[in-house]
Amino acid sequence: MGKKNKSRDADAEPKLTVTNGHSDDSPKAKKKHKKNKNKDQNELPTVSIAVAASIIDNVPTLELATRLAGQIARAATIFRINEVVVFDNKSIVGQDSTVDNLDDESSAAFFIRVLQYLETPQYLRKALFPMHNDLRFVGLLPPLDAPHHLRKHEWGPYREGVTLKERDSNNGATLVDVGLAKHILVDQILEPGRRVTVAMGTNRNLDSDLPRQVVSSSKPREEGMYWGYQVRYAHNISSVFKDCAYKGGYDYIIGTSEHGQIIKSSDLEIPPFRHLLIAFGGLAGLEESIEEDENLKGKDAGDAFSIYLNTCPHQGSRTIRTEEAILISLQYFQEPISRTLQS
Ligand SMILES: C[S@@+](CC[C@H](N)C(=O)[O-])C[C@H]1O[C@@H](n2cnc3c(N)ncnc32)[C@H](O)[C@@H]1O
Repeated sequence: MGKKNKSRDADAEPKLTVTNGHSDDSPKAKKKHKKNKNKDQNELPTVSIAVAASIIDNVPTLELATRLAGQIARAATIFRINEVVVFDNKSIVGQDSTVDNLDDESSAAFFIRVLQYLETPQYLRKALFPMHNDLRFVGLLPPLDAPHHLRKHEWGPYREGVTLKERDSNNGATLVDVGLAKHILVDQILEPGRRVTVAMGTNRNLDSDLPRQVVSSSKPREEGMYWGYQVRYAHNISSVFKDCAYKGGYDYIIGTSEHGQIIKSSDLEIPPFRHLLIAFGGLAGLEESIEEDENLKGKDAGDAFSIYLNTCPHQGSRTIRTEEAILISLQYFQEPISRTLQS
C-alpha cells in the first residue's frame, strides 16, 4: 500500500520546506550558502548514501513507514553519513530534481520529512517543523542521539539554534534559542526562524551580554565531530549522480546487490575519494532503477557504478531488506573507508 493511502486525515498540509543546516531560503542566502557549502565540502571527504523512496510504498501503515524511515536515520547516524539522497524511479526529463518540486503527498516527501525531523535537535523541532500528519508517529522513534543533539544541561563547543523574532532589549542583537536555559546573543543580525550553528566559546555565563559567533554548519565537522546529515531528493538514479550537491560530484559510486561481486571487506580497496556514494535499491533492486531510467538506457549495473558489490554473501533469507542491507553494508564498508581516509 502506498504512502498516499496512509495519511488521509490531514487537512491543509504545508509544503516540505525545512532543510537541515540552514533554513534561510532567500536567493541571496541560498547563493551564499551554496558558495560556503562548496568551499567547506571541498575540504573534507564525505560519505553519502542513496536510498530508494519506494521502500516506503511497501509498508502497510503510517506507523510502520515511520519506523522504517527512523531505522534509516539511525543507520546514517551510527555510521556518520554526511548525506542521504532519497530517490524515485521517475523518467522526468528537464525538471529540477529538488525537494521544492516534490509532490507533498509522495512517499519521497514523507521519507525526507521524517529524516530531516529526526536529524534536527529536539528543542528546535517545534520552531522549524509545522505540524504535519507525516510526523504523527515520530514520537515513537528512538532518538538519533547525535553529538549535535545536546541536552539542556550539556555544554559543547557548538550548538544548533534557531533565530528568534524577539531582539535583545539593550542593543537589538539577534537572540537565538540553542536549547539552554536562556537564549543567547549572536554576532549577526539575522531574520527569525533560521537554523544556525553557534560557536559557544568558553564563557558559560548565560547572563553575559557577550555575543557568540554564528559559524558554517560544517565547522564542527572540520574539528572531527559528526554533525548530522543533509537530505536531498532525486527523481531517479541518474539524477542521484548528476545533481550531486558537492563540487566536482561523487568520485566513487558503489552499488549494492545480491548480484554484485563478492569481495571480503578486508580485501576491498576503495580508491582515495572526496565524495563517496553508496546506493541501495528498493524491492526490485538497483537494476530496476537503472532499467527504468531514460538517461541510463542500455547500461547495466557494471556501467552505472564504479563497483557493484554483494556485501552479505551466503544469505539464509531469500531477500535482504533495504534497511537490513544498509546496516550490514555500512558495517562492511567501515574498515575499507577508514583505510582509504588514513592512507
Ligand atoms: C530487497 S533488496 C533487492 C533485491 C535485489 N534482487 C538485489 O538487487 O539485491 C533491496 C536492496 O537491498 C540491498 N541488498 C540486498 N541484498 C544485498 C546483498 N546481498 N548485498 C548488498 N546489498 C544487498 C540492495 O541495495 C538492494 O537493492
